[in-house]
Amino acid sequence: METLPNQPKMIVAVEVEHLRKCFGTFCAVNDLSFSVAYGEVFGLLGPNGAGKSTLIRVLTTLLPPSSGVARILGFDVAHHADQVRKCIGVIPQAMTSDLDLSAMENMQIFAKLYSVPRDRRIKVAKELLEAVDLTAWADKPVKNFSGGMRRRLEIARGLVHEPRIFFLDEPTTGLDPASRVGVWEMLMRLKKERELTILLTTHYMDEADKLCDRIAIVDHGKLVALDSPLKLKASIPGNNILEVSFSQIPNGWLQTLENLADVQYVKSDDHVFRIGSDNGPKTTVALMEAVRQAQIEISSLSVQSTSLDDVFMHYTGRQLRDSLQDALGYQPAVYQGQR
Ligand SMILES: Nc1ncnc2c1ncn2[C@@H]1O[C@H](COP(=O)(O)OP(=O)(O)OP(=O)(O)O)[C@@H](O)[C@H]1O
Ligand SMILES: [Mg+2]
Repeated sequence: METLPNQPKMIVAVEVEHLRKCFGTFCAVNDLSFSVAYGEVFGLLGPNGAGKSTLIRVLTTLLPPSSGVARILGFDVAHHADQVRKCIGVIPQAMTSDLDLSAMENMQIFAKLYSVPRDRRIKVAKELLEAVDLTAWADKPVKNFSGGMRRRLEIARGLVHEPRIFFLDEPTTGLDPASRVGVWEMLMRLKKERELTILLTTHYMDEADKLCDRIAIVDHGKLVALDSPLKLKASIPGNNILEVSFSQIPNGWLQTLENLADVQYVKSDDHVFRIGSDNGPKTTVALMEAVRQAQIEISSLSVQSTSLDDVFMHYTGRQLRDSLQDALGYQPAVYQGQR
């Protein structure tokens, strides 16, 4: 890869200092500060409306910041937009490839827009289509592609000008589980082969857990927690989470649960109790005994290791899936009548 002219040698890829982006009196990004190291995969995790896309738009020079500073490879996004644009690739949240054109034609248009020299355009496009497993589909119209194939094409297209820093806004939203895994594997391969620094947004916990070296949890435009997935999970009390529901809830039951062996905290969500425990098996045995004494029955029980869902709940006071449902205005259909 060529070195960009005047590119400062540094190991910080993205620096954000007290960044705000406000629309009128409402700040979608509200005093965010963090940095992303060169070569890192950094995840922004948050519910609908958290400000993820707004932050990406500011970092990729599509929106000016209201206050604060953001630098990409040392270039200020507000004052050196052209240099920033040369360093970055962007995959926006909405799919934008042209359905009536073939995969190769979509690649060529982007390569031209990015002024990739004519003699390199075909070579680069072929290499990238190969990297995303679309060589056999190069000349087929994109309207015949599945969602996963279209996403892979757009990822390839975002790399035609060989950027160093790659921004992906919800790269796998709307894809089926197999396609999501396909996109993850491809991204990791591209990252390694092309020495990319990746900043992606997601509201999938498993995606953030699997892909990211570090995760910033954002909510209402603010940073709620920032660390590696492992450390985030270790940062909250309880190594195990028991999720349990009962045939009846006797008086004072919450306190009974809080007093069980090794319990760190108990939260209730409708009829389901989430019990954070330092020792899942021991708490489970104590729970059985408490249930026997109260002469009630357990309707459902699961014992899990701490997940990023629990981290999100711990730091924001609610579950990510609830936040998503609130924002989308729907309730889960399948379990609605069963609790
Ligand atoms: N141009 C705008 N004018 C006014 N409000 C805006 C504008 N763009 C975004 N917002 C508001 O800013 C908030 C954050 O929006 P944003 O799109 O950044 O969220 P997000 O985290 O990307 O959500 P999602 O997961 O749904 O993509 C929302 O409340 C949104 O309505
Ligand atoms: Mg968004």
